[in-house]
Amino acid sequence: MTETLAVQTARTPEDTLKRMRERLKGVVPDVELQLKADLVFEINRLKVERNAVILGHNYMEPALFHSVPDYTGDSLELSRQSAETDADIILFCGVQFMAETAKILSPHKTVLIPSLKAGCSLAAGITAADVRLLKKWYPDAPVVTYVNTYADVKAESDYCCTSGNAIAVVTHLLSEGHRQIIFLPDEYLARNTAAELGLDFVLPPVLRSEEPVIGKDPTIIGWRARCEVHEKFRPEDVHHVREQFPDVAVLAHPECSPEVVAVSDKTGSTKQLIKFVRDLDAPQYLLLTECSMGDNIAAENPDKDMLRLCSFRCPYMNEITVEDTLDALRNTQYEVSLPPEIIERARTPIDRMLEIR
Ligand code: 13P
Ligand code: SF4
Repeated sequence: MTETLAVQTARTPEDTLKRMRERLKGVVPDVELQLKADLVFEINRLKVERNAVILGHNYMEPALFHSVPDYTGDSLELSRQSAETDADIILFCGVQFMAETAKILSPHKTVLIPSLKAGCSLAAGITAADVRLLKKWYPDAPVVTYVNTYADVKAESDYCCTSGNAIAVVTHLLSEGHRQIIFLPDEYLARNTAAELGLDFVLPPVLRSEEPVIGKDPTIIGWRARCEVHEKFRPEDVHHVREQFPDVAVLAHPECSPEVVAVSDKTGSTKQLIKFVRDLDAPQYLLLTECSMGDNIAAENPDKDMLRLCSFRCPYMNEITVEDTLDALRNTQYEVSLPPEIIERARTPIDRMLEIR
């Protein structure tokens, strides 16, 4: 449960505004809070009336993140929450693949996403047919699929993983004796995971007609897809920031390139990055991930000096607004629906992932 509870239990729009100010005054200008408070009050009222639970990814904008979700977190935490809720409606303030995962885990519930434009460049970077081809090339290798994929791709997979448990999932497969592991679709997460575990890394052939590349044993076989946001951070950006702020703690999401990870102080999922800021004592912190998260952390930790590198934003996460969230609840839109056969097949790799602690 999040600390947004204080805002959610406000009894009037005026009280909602007062509590939003208490929470967000150092981060969101008052004029914006005034614009959003009535909407937030109405979302929280309707949520109770409709027996809905709102899940909010860590990348949501501060006025939404700190005011309406019952649960916030990274992909892994929100997957767990989707499997456990007893609400009738799950309203997912995140991107499509996250809402699909909620639907797979709670197929009899109504799962809503506030915008149809909330995609993901990684998820769009691989198809189910690509996975079938990879399985032909590497018949003995289990397929680990990042949750940032669509349901039909998960349906072709053996295990899912998130950035929070990729190392644990691959370690589990190594302990079962697997020497080749297909890891899809994020090339950088796969490379970073291989580097962390001291494994070889290869990319598959580009053309269907080519012979598969075999790496040194044990190997991770990756795929050529990247997050369009995280791939833009460069090592020289980090060097520049360090010249200006020599003791800054640089915290990178593992969708950043291995070169960027190498010059950062810590790497982890969005949840882990939040924890690093809480636990580390540094004069400044720089997050190499979607910019809104810096604001969300600043609201919660007014004593921490968060630097921002906000030139690159996730256009898909930014599609989810307070206004659309209210419309989603009012009009029961946009409902996530998946073929039952895909739900059944995609559930197994997600369940296997959730069993690994
Ligand atoms: P997390 O699982 O770390 O929250 O990341 C999701 C994501 O989309 C990162 O770009
Ligand atoms: Fe997808 Fe990247 Fe946006 Fe995350 S930040 S949702 S991986 S495009």
